[in-house]
Amino acid sequence: MKILITGGLGYIGSHVATLLLQNGVDVVVVDNLENSRIQVLDGITSITGSAPVFKKLDVGNETQMDELFTEHPDIEGVIHFAAYKSVGESVSEPLRYYKNNLGGLNQLLKHSINKTIPFIFSSSCTVYGQSENLPISEDEPLKPATSPYGNTKKIGEQIIQDCCKAHPDFSTILLRYFNPVGAHDSAKIGEYPVGVPQNLVPFLTQTVKGIRPVLKVFGSSYDTPDGTCIRDYIHVMDLAQAHVDSLNYLLNKQNSESCEVYNVGTGNGVSVLELIQMFENATGKKVSYELSEPRTGDTIAAYADVSKIEREIGWKARYSLEEALSSAWKWEEMLHKKLE
Ligand code: UD1
Repeated sequence: MKILITGGLGYIGSHVATLLLQNGVDVVVVDNLENSRIQVLDGITSITGSAPVFKKLDVGNETQMDELFTEHPDIEGVIHFAAYKSVGESVSEPLRYYKNNLGGLNQLLKHSINKTIPFIFSSSCTVYGQSENLPISEDEPLKPATSPYGNTKKIGEQIIQDCCKAHPDFSTILLRYFNPVGAHDSAKIGEYPVGVPQNLVPFLTQTVKGIRPVLKVFGSSYDTPDGTCIRDYIHVMDLAQAHVDSLNYLLNKQNSESCEVYNVGTGNGVSVLELIQMFENATGKKVSYELSEPRTGDTIAAYADVSKIEREIGWKARYSLEEALSSAWKWEEMLHKKLE
């Protein structure tokens, strides 16, 4: 079986590619390398002992995408990650975000619908905004997006749902990720941010490594037990497994008609200060941090109700947050050694 992974050299895509290769699946990775690095291919190959087919291309480029599907007529499923993901950047460059994130999706849907092959979309818990209810179930009403990035996820979901209505034999799963953290157990692949990291865990590990002077905790007087924001941090290995299980679910379904949405998280809410404490306990390293002003647009608390994916797909997170944070630290150290 051959599966196409777009953005397959990115953080989550590379872990999914690795897992599929380890399951004996032929993987075609496409990536434009704008926010990823070609060395990730070596990491994947070194873990799995086999290299995926790799093509550097832009998923929004119609000619290149048509050529890709002509070259690989036996692609049996698509997992689509290729997209820009910086909230702040999307606010200053909205058109670039809408063009890239929605143009690419359009191309992939066209081919997936033509071939009637399963399609998995990487969405985000950002579509819920600040939910009235916790934990957040998939039935929770969606909030207006607070950034063009968030809007591309919301509109992307809507486009896919419209396609499902128009093409009843098209089957797709939208995965709404909570906060992915950690790295592959081998520390050969992990999060490899280009520039200053925006997300908590890569910023934290770079601070401990001495690359950043101090970690700013954004907001300490929120209405939460310790005043800091609460999130649902999910190990990237668990998240990768959720994609493989979702793909198998779609491939094995008798009745292919399906357009389902699933949360992917652990179900546990953890505050920023709790996460710092867990990191220190798990690694024995001290984190230099200071309480700081809130970050504009931050959600106060978000954690998932994961009962739907467990019930319907049979997926459940297996790793602890301590294991995820240890792996993030192991990766940070490995990365540093490689660059020295
Ligand atoms: C962010 C995006 C979200 C996106 C997700 C992808 C924002 C507002 N949201 O989620 O749309 O889907 O990344 O991974 O950017 N924090 C600090 N100090 C830091 C960095 C973060 O205290 O230097 C705090 C944040 O305030 C937040 C928590 O850590 O409470 C997690 O932040 P982050 O990793 O950026 O993820 P989200 O904001 O949840």
